[in-house]
Amino acid sequence: MKRIEICRDGSHTIYSEEFGQFYHNPNGAVAESLHVFFDQSGIVQDLKDHKPVRVLEIGFGTGLNALLLADLKKSLNSSSEILFQSVEAYPISVDIAGKLNYADHLKNSELGEQLAPIFEQLANGHVNIEILPKYRLHVFHGLFSDADFAGNRFDYVFHDPFSPEVNDELWTSEVFFKIRMYCAEHAVLATYCAATKARAAMAIAGWFVARAPGALGKREMTLASKSAKKLSGLKRLNEERLIERFT
Ligand SMILES: C[S@@+](CC[C@H](N)C(=O)[O-])C[C@H]1O[C@@H](n2cnc3c(N)ncnc32)[C@H](O)[C@@H]1O
Repeated sequence: MKRIEICRDGSHTIYSEEFGQFYHNPNGAVAESLHVFFDQSGIVQDLKDHKPVRVLEIGFGTGLNALLLADLKKSLNSSSEILFQSVEAYPISVDIAGKLNYADHLKNSELGEQLAPIFEQLANGHVNIEILPKYRLHVFHGLFSDADFAGNRFDYVFHDPFSPEVNDELWTSEVFFKIRMYCAEHAVLATYCAATKARAAMAIAGWFVARAPGALGKREMTLASKSAKKLSGLKRLNEERLIERFT
């Protein structure tokens, strides 16, 4: 069972009884997503520079991140060519998607109308939609372990499963290794999670790892990259020590 809940910033989130968790920080779904995936990752600058942007998201959930990226592209008048590849094993229903109030939190509220048709397509299989000119959305309907992203070189990873305590299978070094395989050398992975075990799994898979300020009262989040240079200016973690602790 999944039900809509209202966060403190007025935006909706979902509570999953199967996982026993909210899809977002109950202090603010929109505010958390903007902070973790957009403000901290560096993607906004790429949009301003009109660079091509290829994103891999783990956990499509409500589709909020895909919508926020469309909203930013439009507001910044960015001509960036965007590919947003996501993966979702247990989609929310079209009925719930149609009730989410994200349109009220977007600068371009008409984008909110895209949500129900996306979930209609997802209910019947994989999603392949152009949600804006030069913005293609793919959603793989199935388990991450069954997804094949061959032919892709992602620039950003939005790592957004439930927490490692309840969604352990998406926080292993094997998962971070698979993701890394499909990433460009300059790729940046962003996640709200600051658990040492998750950071160690990233390090074991060959990612450089750094801490960044967390969203909405959370002390920290994590950024990782295949290139140490991409993390300059951030507080780097000692990958060797992380690996030693967990192997
Ligand atoms: C925290 S929610 C994602 C939030 C989403 N990014 C958003 O903005 O709404 C985590 C999502 O991961 C999905 N999920 C969990 N385990 C999965 C797996 N093994 N493979 C694919 N999707 C999975 C859940 O169904 C859920 O929709």
